[in-house]
Amino acid sequence: MDIFEFRNEYLKGGLSRSDLDPNPFKQFEKWFNHACECDVAEPNAMVVSTVGADGAPSSRVVLLKSWDENGFVFYTNYSSRKAREIAGNDKVCAIFAWLDLERQLRIGGRAEKVSAAESLRYFLSRPFGSRLGAWVSRQSSVISSRGLLEMQFEKMKEKFKNGDVPLPDFWGGYRIVPESFEFWQGRKNRLHDRFEYAKKSSPDGSAVWEISRLAP
Ligand SMILES: Cc1cc2nc3c(=O)[nH]c(=O)nc-3n(C[C@H](O)[C@H](O)[C@H](O)COP(=O)(O)O)c2cc1C
Repeated sequence: MDIFEFRNEYLKGGLSRSDLDPNPFKQFEKWFNHACECDVAEPNAMVVSTVGADGAPSSRVVLLKSWDENGFVFYTNYSSRKAREIAGNDKVCAIFAWLDLERQLRIGGRAEKVSAAESLRYFLSRPFGSRLGAWVSRQSSVISSRGLLEMQFEKMKEKFKNGDVPLPDFWGGYRIVPESFEFWQGRKNRLHDRFEYAKKSSPDGSAVWEISRLAP
């Protein structure tokens, strides 16, 4: 396979300033709804990057589970690598790659834990097996075998056989509170459209978003 020859022209659309909602959350809503309507695979999957104490970044896919103008929420293990890194440096970056639509969205901001009540609400909506899975996995730690994982799953299944699985205190949500957004639409000849929204605070403390076109 000669990846030198992998080459697509991006022709599906364009993005101009007049298309943009002045509110980046509303613009997100338009693009996210469009991705869902177009049956893009896992439209709520985002790559979240964090930075470790040594300054090295690390990235992983997580699923967006709710969002509003306060931010974008995903759920995870609070002892995982990402959680440890967020504890030391709350600056994060998230990417939605809606490649079938030749679109990328970058969100920069800070991550904060959601309330235990919010995590519980989401946890209780998860299927029984996923709730058990949260108890079993000490996410990001080294384990000796898959067998051990499955054995622990069976133990938890027995322990919580009445179906009442409590929220583990090491599991919950993070909200990414955005400070910038960048909407990217692929165009012909690599002359892509990119618009960045940067958060500025107004005198009354409300958010004002400054929009700039970026070179591709
Ligand atoms: C499609 C997809 C969805 C995922 N969703 C989540 C998620 O919502 N939460 C999560 O903790 N991990 C999720 N993962 C697993 C993460 O990518 C990652 O392996 C895990 O969170 C451990 O990351 P860390 O060691 O960097 O903390 C998902 C992976 C894929 C490929």
